[in-house]
Amino acid sequence: MPLQELFPTLVYSAPLGAGTGALNRELLAECRTVRARDTAGRRWSARNYAGGYTSYGSLDQVHRLSSSFIGLRERIDRHVAAYARALHWDLRGGRLLMSDCWINIMARGSAHGPHLHPQAVVSGTYYIKVPPGSAGLKFEDPRLSRLMAAPMRRARAPRAVRAHVELPARAGRLVLFESWLRHEVPATAAGLERVSLSFNYQWA
Ligand code: NI
Repeated sequence: MPLQELFPTLVYSAPLGAGTGALNRELLAECRTVRARDTAGRRWSARNYAGGYTSYGSLDQVHRLSSSFIGLRERIDRHVAAYARALHWDLRGGRLLMSDCWINIMARGSAHGPHLHPQAVVSGTYYIKVPPGSAGLKFEDPRLSRLMAAPMRRARAPRAVRAHVELPARAGRLVLFESWLRHEVPATAAGLERVSLSFNYQWA
Protein backbone atom coordinates (compact mmCIF):
# COMPACT_ATOMS: atom_id res chain seq x y z
CA MET A 1 0.00 0.00 0.00
CA PRO A 2 1.34 3.45 -0.86
CA LEU A 3 0.92 4.65 2.74
CA GLN A 4 3.16 6.74 4.88
CA GLU A 5 2.98 6.52 8.63
CA LEU A 6 3.14 10.05 10.07
CA PHE A 7 2.94 11.36 13.66
CA PRO A 8 3.19 8.07 15.53
CA THR A 9 2.49 7.92 19.27
CA LEU A 10 5.46 6.25 20.94
CA VAL A 11 4.86 4.36 24.18
CA TYR A 12 7.85 2.75 25.90
CA SER A 13 7.49 -0.52 27.79
CA ALA A 14 10.48 -2.47 29.09
CA PRO A 15 11.73 -4.47 32.04
CA LEU A 16 13.54 -2.15 34.46
CA GLY A 17 16.56 -4.47 34.34
CA ALA A 18 18.24 -7.12 36.46
CA GLY A 19 17.52 -7.72 40.14
CA THR A 20 13.99 -6.40 40.31
CA GLY A 21 12.80 -9.29 42.54
CA ALA A 22 14.79 -8.08 45.55
CA LEU A 23 14.20 -4.42 44.69
CA ASN A 24 10.45 -4.94 44.51
CA ARG A 25 10.36 -6.67 47.89
CA GLU A 26 12.12 -3.66 49.41
CA LEU A 27 9.90 -1.16 47.63
CA LEU A 28 6.74 -3.06 48.58
CA ALA A 29 7.67 -2.98 52.26
CA GLU A 30 8.45 0.73 52.03
CA CYS A 31 5.19 1.52 50.22
CA ARG A 32 3.23 -0.24 52.96
CA THR A 33 5.17 1.62 55.64
CA VAL A 34 4.40 4.92 53.95
CA ARG A 35 0.71 4.03 53.77
CA ALA A 36 0.66 3.07 57.47
CA ARG A 37 2.17 6.46 58.43
CA ASP A 38 0.36 8.65 55.92
CA THR A 39 -2.89 9.53 57.70
CA ALA A 40 -3.57 12.49 55.39
CA GLY A 41 -3.05 10.28 52.34
CA ARG A 42 -5.38 7.57 53.61
CA ARG A 43 -8.01 10.25 54.25
CA TRP A 44 -7.48 11.73 50.76
CA SER A 45 -7.68 8.25 49.21
CA ALA A 46 -10.93 7.45 51.02
CA ARG A 47 -12.49 10.45 49.25
CA ASN A 48 -10.77 10.19 45.87
CA TYR A 49 -9.45 6.65 45.32
CA ALA A 50 -12.16 4.16 46.22
CA GLY A 51 -10.92 0.91 47.71
CA GLY A 52 -7.24 1.81 47.39
CA TYR A 53 -4.47 4.06 48.65
CA THR A 54 -2.48 6.66 46.75
CA SER A 55 0.04 9.13 48.11
CA TYR A 56 -0.77 11.46 45.18
CA GLY A 57 -2.61 13.97 47.38
CA SER A 58 -0.20 13.89 50.34
CA LEU A 59 3.32 12.63 49.45
CA ASP A 60 4.26 13.13 45.82
CA GLN A 61 8.04 13.13 46.33
CA VAL A 62 8.61 9.49 47.25
CA HIS A 63 11.57 9.38 44.83
CA ARG A 64 13.52 11.26 47.53
CA LEU A 65 12.41 9.13 50.49
CA SER A 66 15.04 6.41 50.79
CA SER A 67 17.98 4.77 49.04
CA SER A 68 15.72 2.20 47.34
CA PHE A 69 13.50 4.91 45.88
CA ILE A 70 16.53 6.99 44.85
CA GLY A 71 18.12 3.92 43.22
CA LEU A 72 14.90 3.24 41.34
CA ARG A 73 14.74 6.85 40.14
CA GLU A 74 18.31 6.60 38.80
CA ARG A 75 17.41 3.46 36.86
CA ILE A 76 14.24 5.05 35.46
CA ASP A 77 16.29 8.12 34.44
CA ARG A 78 18.28 5.93 32.04
CA HIS A 79 15.12 4.57 30.42
CA VAL A 80 13.70 8.08 30.11
CA ALA A 81 16.91 9.22 28.39
CA ALA A 82 16.56 6.33 25.88
CA TYR A 83 12.91 7.23 25.30
CA ALA A 84 13.81 10.90 24.69
CA ARG A 85 16.39 9.77 22.11
CA ALA A 86 13.74 7.65 20.36
CA LEU A 87 11.50 10.74 20.27
CA HIS A 88 14.39 12.76 18.76
CA TRP A 89 13.96 15.45 21.38
CA ASP A 90 16.45 18.30 21.28
CA LEU A 91 16.81 19.13 24.98
CA ARG A 92 19.01 22.17 24.20
CA GLY A 93 21.40 21.42 27.03
CA GLY A 94 18.56 20.85 29.49
CA ARG A 95 17.77 17.65 31.31
CA LEU A 96 14.75 15.51 32.03
CA LEU A 97 14.24 15.37 35.79
CA MET A 98 11.76 13.37 37.85
CA SER A 99 9.59 16.05 39.43
CA ASP A 100 7.09 13.94 41.33
CA CYS A 101 6.49 10.31 42.15
CA TRP A 102 3.72 8.72 44.16
CA ILE A 103 2.50 5.34 45.38
CA ASN A 104 -0.65 3.59 44.11
CA ILE A 105 -2.05 0.57 45.93
CA MET A 106 -5.18 -0.69 44.22
CA ALA A 107 -7.50 -3.38 45.53
CA ARG A 108 -10.55 -5.08 44.04
CA GLY A 109 -12.74 -2.48 42.36
CA SER A 110 -10.17 0.34 42.48
CA ALA A 111 -9.93 2.24 39.20
CA HIS A 112 -8.35 5.42 37.90
CA GLY A 113 -10.43 7.28 35.31
CA PRO A 114 -9.05 8.79 32.06
CA HIS A 115 -6.60 11.66 32.62
CA LEU A 116 -3.49 13.48 31.38
CA HIS A 117 -0.47 14.64 33.38
CA PRO A 118 -0.33 18.41 32.83
CA GLN A 119 2.93 20.29 33.41
CA ALA A 120 5.11 17.29 32.66
CA VAL A 121 6.71 16.01 29.45
CA VAL A 122 7.18 12.31 30.21
CA SER A 123 5.06 10.30 32.63
CA GLY A 124 5.08 6.67 33.51
CA THR A 125 4.51 3.82 35.89
CA TYR A 126 6.73 1.21 37.47
CA TYR A 127 5.04 -1.98 38.67
CA ILE A 128 6.08 -3.40 42.03
CA LYS A 129 3.44 -6.08 42.61
CA VAL A 130 0.87 -7.26 40.12
CA PRO A 131 -1.42 -10.12 41.15
CA PRO A 132 -3.10 -12.19 38.41
CA GLY A 133 -6.26 -10.52 37.11
CA SER A 134 -4.93 -6.98 37.66
CA ALA A 135 -5.86 -4.29 35.17
CA GLY A 136 -3.21 -2.89 32.85
CA LEU A 137 -2.69 0.66 31.61
CA LYS A 138 -5.19 1.64 28.94
CA PHE A 139 -4.27 4.35 26.42
CA GLU A 140 -6.61 6.30 24.20
CA ASP A 141 -5.91 7.36 20.61
CA PRO A 142 -5.06 11.08 21.02
CA ARG A 143 -6.91 11.85 17.78
CA LEU A 144 -10.21 10.46 19.05
CA SER A 145 -11.69 13.91 19.67
CA ARG A 146 -10.94 14.90 16.05
CA LEU A 147 -12.39 11.91 14.27
CA MET A 148 -15.86 13.48 13.91
CA ALA A 149 -17.83 11.30 11.48
CA ALA A 150 -15.17 8.62 10.98
CA PRO A 151 -16.35 5.00 11.16
CA MET A 152 -15.40 2.81 14.10
CA ARG A 153 -12.36 0.65 13.65
CA ARG A 154 -12.80 -3.08 13.27
CA ALA A 155 -12.59 -5.10 16.46
CA ARG A 156 -9.68 -7.09 15.02
CA ALA A 157 -7.78 -4.10 13.66
CA PRO A 158 -4.02 -4.20 14.31
CA ARG A 159 -3.10 -2.74 17.69
CA ALA A 160 -1.40 0.31 16.16
CA VAL A 161 -4.69 1.61 14.68
CA ARG A 162 -7.11 0.75 17.48
CA ALA A 163 -8.85 3.52 19.41
CA HIS A 164 -7.79 2.04 22.77
CA VAL A 165 -4.87 -0.18 23.71
CA GLU A 166 -4.33 -1.71 27.14
CA LEU A 167 -0.76 -2.63 28.04
CA PRO A 168 -0.65 -5.38 30.66
CA ALA A 169 0.86 -4.51 34.05
CA ARG A 170 3.83 -6.74 34.96
CA ALA A 171 5.95 -6.56 38.11
CA GLY A 172 9.42 -5.23 37.32
CA ARG A 173 8.29 -3.48 34.15
CA LEU A 174 8.27 0.17 33.33
CA VAL A 175 5.91 2.04 30.99
CA LEU A 176 6.71 5.56 29.73
CA PHE A 177 4.56 7.85 27.60
CA GLU A 178 4.29 11.50 26.69
CA SER A 179 2.32 13.30 29.39
CA TRP A 180 -0.41 14.52 27.01
CA LEU A 181 -1.49 10.97 26.19
CA ARG A 182 -4.78 10.18 27.90
CA HIS A 183 -4.80 6.95 29.89
CA GLU A 184 -6.69 5.15 32.62
CA VAL A 185 -6.48 2.11 34.86
CA PRO A 186 -9.71 0.11 34.49
CA ALA A 187 -11.20 -1.43 37.63
CA THR A 188 -9.01 -4.23 38.87
CA ALA A 189 -10.61 -7.64 39.38
CA ALA A 190 -7.69 -8.97 41.40
CA GLY A 191 -8.41 -9.69 45.05
CA LEU A 192 -4.85 -8.93 46.11
CA GLU A 193 -3.17 -5.54 46.14
CA ARG A 194 -1.71 -4.19 42.91
CA VAL A 195 1.16 -1.86 43.78
CA SER A 196 2.82 0.63 41.46
CA LEU A 197 4.63 3.95 41.42
CA SER A 198 3.64 6.70 39.02
CA PHE A 199 5.85 9.64 38.15
CA ASN A 200 6.37 12.70 36.02
CA TYR A 201 9.44 14.17 34.35
CA GLN A 202 9.93 17.82 33.57
CA TRP A 203 12.33 19.38 31.11
CA ALA A 204 14.61 21.74 33.02
NI1 NI B 1 -1.71 8.71 35.03
